[in-house]
Amino acid sequence: MSSEEETSQTSSPPSSSSSSPPPASHFIGKTDDIVKAGRTTKLVNGCRDVLILYHQGQFHAMDMRCYHAGGALQYGDIEEFNGRQCIVCPWHKYKITLAEGEGLYQAVDNPTAKPLRTYWCSKGVKQRIHKVTEVNGDVYVTLNDSSEAIESDVYQTEKYRTVLLKAQPKPKPKT
Ligand code: FES
Repeated sequence: MSSEEETSQTSSPPSSSSSSPPPASHFIGKTDDIVKAGRTTKLVNGCRDVLILYHQGQFHAMDMRCYHAGGALQYGDIEEFNGRQCIVCPWHKYKITLAEGEGLYQAVDNPTAKPLRTYWCSKGVKQRIHKVTEVNGDVYVTLNDSSEAIESDVYQTEKYRTVLLKAQPKPKPKT
């Protein structure tokens, strides 16, 4: 294989930019609007509530309700933990990585030691992450249709959509 072939095989185009929307993708909104707002939510394909975020120059998309108990992630702060960007659920402060949907937590080395020494651990993927594509100033989401169950799937039903909509707090002003 020539070095040119190697280059073309190993360098893939950025996932957030393309010349035409992927076949199974769904239009979310204008890039400028989402960048300005920082986040938006949408019922995608009539079946899935998705949170789309723009953070530090990148788009992310994930199930809108938290895998723990259905918390409204669209009202969560974004913070870095152990070098990973996470959304912090406003309900019980669970931390979910933006890129993978992993639940992060702090474990304790020895509960009797003073001071306590903690370290970050992953519970694995808990929140379903979807793919975002940006095309000519428009943002599209392709739903992650993996058949493997992910905990956040539980809250993608009409029941939770109705019940949790009523319980949502008012959005915080942007800082
Ligand atoms: S519902 Fe998100 S942390 Fe409990």
